[in-house]
Amino acid sequence: MNRRHFLIAATAGLGLLAATGAYAQQTVKIGLILPMSGPFASTGRQIEGMAKLYMAQNGNMVAGKKIELIVKDDTGVADVTKRIAQELVVNEKVSVLAGFGLTPLALATAPIATQAKIPTIVMAAATSIITEQSPYIVRTGFTLPQVTAPLAEWAPKNGIKKVVTLVSDYGPGHDAEKAFKETFAKGGGQVLAELRVPMANPEFAPFLQRARDAKPDALFVFVPSGVGSAVMKQFAERELAKDGIRLIVTGDVLDDDILNNMGDTALGVVSSHHYSAAHNSPENKALVEAFKKSNNMRPNFHGVGGYDGMHLIYLALKKTNGDADGTKLLEAMKGQSWTSPRGPVSIDPETRDIVQNVFIRKVERVNGELYNVEFATIEKVKDPVKAAKK
Ligand code: PHB
Repeated sequence: MNRRHFLIAATAGLGLLAATGAYAQQTVKIGLILPMSGPFASTGRQIEGMAKLYMAQNGNMVAGKKIELIVKDDTGVADVTKRIAQELVVNEKVSVLAGFGLTPLALATAPIATQAKIPTIVMAAATSIITEQSPYIVRTGFTLPQVTAPLAEWAPKNGIKKVVTLVSDYGPGHDAEKAFKETFAKGGGQVLAELRVPMANPEFAPFLQRARDAKPDALFVFVPSGVGSAVMKQFAERELAKDGIRLIVTGDVLDDDILNNMGDTALGVVSSHHYSAAHNSPENKALVEAFKKSNNMRPNFHGVGGYDGMHLIYLALKKTNGDADGTKLLEAMKGQSWTSPRGPVSIDPETRDIVQNVFIRKVERVNGELYNVEFATIEKVKDPVKAAKK
């Protein structure tokens, strides 16, 4: 190669470099890792649908950057989530990781978030400790203690003094069990028995029998979204209500995805949660209508965690003027506040958890369909576990 050819080749190479560099800077990739198949696929369907709806409504350009969403199916298996997260960081050079349908999937990704300094938005998984596993994790869903404590406060004021708790035997279930017991005791309530069922394909009958034998005023239940139908069916079949046992649950059990198919069994059941498709606000009415049009579904709480997660990414990018550096983006997420379809929310700058209203609701038939109708609001609830640590 003579000098002239060398210069031409070098210039062309530089041009290519500049072009790819410019491309990398102009595109901000979001790696959305979700269970799109397997028993928790409804969570994946909701969040993917909502992320795409958010982009359809708000465009794919933010502060001069093109947003590219890369959706990957982890099938709900933690090793797969971790491998996909690594590939997205190393090969795709994503600026943000997001999704995480179950606690173990979020926990598996935490070390990658820290090492790669990539903001990681937990949209669904709800065990309190998750945000403490990496300073790069931000949560737009909820925590189990956050939604459970208000129900445990409500119960003793409403004639429920003795309770049996029944939870899925993993992180969020343990969180719900503990939060219920502690708060309930403060109000003079007593937990007679704490029952734990396997997370996947649980057989509820023997547990319901043990609950009945303890003669509580109410049974408190947490199971992750998707599993609630089985609880409701077996509670009805075993006729615990005939023994005067009420059912109180976190909103996960009465997930909007499956509630309408539960039938009259669900009528009157009281729950607490941060989102209901029946939430009475203009923002929510617009979302419910748009999601019905785009995905032919009713939004559930995981879906709204996804919608708000996308909003938070957009807000942060606007604040950094399009700079997608991981640490800058993370800092820009802290302290953000906005009006979500669920109501007013903010990101606690210290814990990176979401602060939000929690509602006490009751299942009612509205225009022929079952809904969780909110009747009491507890405002600006923080994750109580972290608040207590301070
Ligand atoms: C979780 O695994 O953290 C989880 C999943 C679904 C829920 C709640 C918590 O409804």
